[in-house]
Amino acid sequence: MVFFLLVVFGFLSFTSSQISHQYHFINIRKNWTEAQRFCREKYIDLATVNNADEMNSLFGAISDVSYDVYIGLYRSEVFRWHWTLPDSYNVELFQNWKEKQPDQDNNHGCAVMDNNGKWFSDSCDLQKPFVCFNATSNTKYILIEVTKTWREAQEYCQTFYTDLVNIRDSSENQNVKKIAKNDVWIGLFKDPWSWSDQSNSSFRFWSNIRRDQNCVSVMVNQTGKWNDVKCNATQPFICHSDLKSQSTTKSATPGPSTTTQHTPAQNTTEGENTSSHPTQILTTGPEQDNLILVRENLTWTEAVSYCRKHHVDLVSIHSEVLQNRAARRASQASTSHVWLGLRYTCTFNFWFWIKNRETGCYQNWASGHGPSGYEECGLSGAMESTGGHRWVGRPESERLNFICHTCADCQLCTDTF
Ligand SMILES: *[C@@H]1O[C@H](CO)[C@@H](O)[C@H](O)[C@H]1NC(C)=O
Ligand SMILES: *[C@@H]1O[C@H](CO)[C@@H](O)[C@H](O)[C@H]1NC(C)=O
Ligand SMILES: *[C@@H]1O[C@H](CO)[C@@H](O)[C@H](O)[C@H]1NC(C)=O
Ligand SMILES: *[C@@H]1O[C@H](CO)[C@@H](O)[C@H](O)[C@H]1NC(C)=O
Ligand SMILES: *[C@@H]1O[C@H](CO)[C@@H](O)[C@H](O)[C@H]1NC(C)=O
Ligand SMILES: *[C@@H]1O[C@H](CO)[C@@H](O)[C@H](O)[C@H]1NC(C)=O
Ligand SMILES: *[C@@H]1O[C@H](CO)[C@@H](O)[C@H](O)[C@H]1NC(C)=O
Ligand SMILES: *[C@@H]1O[C@H](CO)[C@@H](O)[C@H](O)[C@H]1NC(C)=O
Repeated sequence: MVFFLLVVFGFLSFTSSQISHQYHFINIRKNWTEAQRFCREKYIDLATVNNADEMNSLFGAISDVSYDVYIGLYRSEVFRWHWTLPDSYNVELFQNWKEKQPDQDNNHGCAVMDNNGKWFSDSCDLQKPFVCFNATSNTKYILIEVTKTWREAQEYCQTFYTDLVNIRDSSENQNVKKIAKNDVWIGLFKDPWSWSDQSNSSFRFWSNIRRDQNCVSVMVNQTGKWNDVKCNATQPFICHSDLKSQSTTKSATPGPSTTTQHTPAQNTTEGENTSSHPTQILTTGPEQDNLILVRENLTWTEAVSYCRKHHVDLVSIHSEVLQNRAARRASQASTSHVWLGLRYTCTFNFWFWIKNRETGCYQNWASGHGPSGYEECGLSGAMESTGGHRWVGRPESERLNFICHTCADCQLCTDTF
């Protein structure tokens, strides 16, 4: 525990970066792929962690201490190089490899700087001296002549300084070279781990890597450190939503302020065994509103089938209140528009909501779209994910995210639920 705190405080004093994710602990047991699907439907994705600050916030969201809990990290096919300080350093910007380096055959590689300032990859388990980095000091680089494996070296630097040295450009590389007389570890490593949301965070918080398991759990009994586990294990998990888009959309729709909610899981999610596992979603997100953004790219027809199978139907919007709620969901979409349950019939030349086959009493068409706009066969209705969230006609074969209704008997024109 003491070590954990040291690491966290070390980072806190260095990074002023905002926590960009809001974490939601889902106390339902699912395997990793089911957990991913759940998070993509209800939030944005399984949790990504960018730094120690966020790890602290994630660990704080776990309310039940008896389980190991999935996050969004998984083993992919591709090994990538990362700097250890994810916020400030980018592998694309500067590299100083020796000829024929990095060695493509050595997958579990860590980077060494030689006495010419050139880099090569070597087995992370070898013991070498290393250079730490103190972010708050003028003399930023500290040579540690005791030899350690790469991971031990990183732990040492995180405990007593900021981290292993990270390098942004050739002048920083020169400065590190000057103090490192021999081969030294630097904070560059290669691994096969990817995040479910495809972000490239290099933050790692390993306790153990067994190297034959493909998914990752936070070990609640090991102060939140990570283990790799089998992806078919069913355990609770952590989703994240995007703090930025939530706070901007929240202010646009004043309502009861929500801080921490204990929301019973809806039984619209199939297959829960509620008697053996209390199903509870601990969330600090927006209130439940009977709408679900599905962040999958489907054609309009596929989206209708999906909503009808898993929920009730593609959303119909019959009031400004509903428009605002749908707009808030749409702003978390990965596509520029999201499908609505709105269809154009070119036989009869009008737009209608598929839910009741009526033309709406509320409208929010973009100019040039809708009843008085340009029309052709095969159009369906979509909402802009940003801006005025206006409605437009789009070819039904386009692949977009979409919003489902979860209530079967939503009121229509008088809708204020
Ligand atoms: C890092 O640098 C700051 C500023 O010079 C200094 O106060 C601090 O003691 C240094 N940290 C270590 C562990 O040397
Ligand atoms: C991910 O990598 C891209 C380019 O390699 C970079 O522009 C971006 O800032 C990185 N994102 C994060 C979260 O590190
Ligand atoms: C933590 O829990 C795991 C099982 O979930 C167990 O294998 C491990 O021994 C525990 N570790 C400690 C330090 O209690
Ligand atoms: C998770 O469960 C689903 C349905 O039970 C199954 O299709 C999927 O293969 C499982 N995934 C893993 C990684 O075991
Ligand atoms: C997961 O798969 C392994 C074989 O790959 C099997 O031995 C194990 O029983 C499975 N666990 C669960 C919880 O399904
Ligand atoms: C949810 O489950 C409860 C208890 O099993 C049941 O009474 C209720 O009707 C269910 N609700 C829906 C919408 O299925
Ligand atoms: C739920 O799990 C308990 C204990 O494992 C079992 O006895 C019960 O039959 C299960 N219920 C359902 C609906 O699967
Ligand atoms: C959906 O499409 C968007 C935009 O083309 C893309 O950024 C996103 O990754 C896609 N999502 C999936 C799950 O394929």
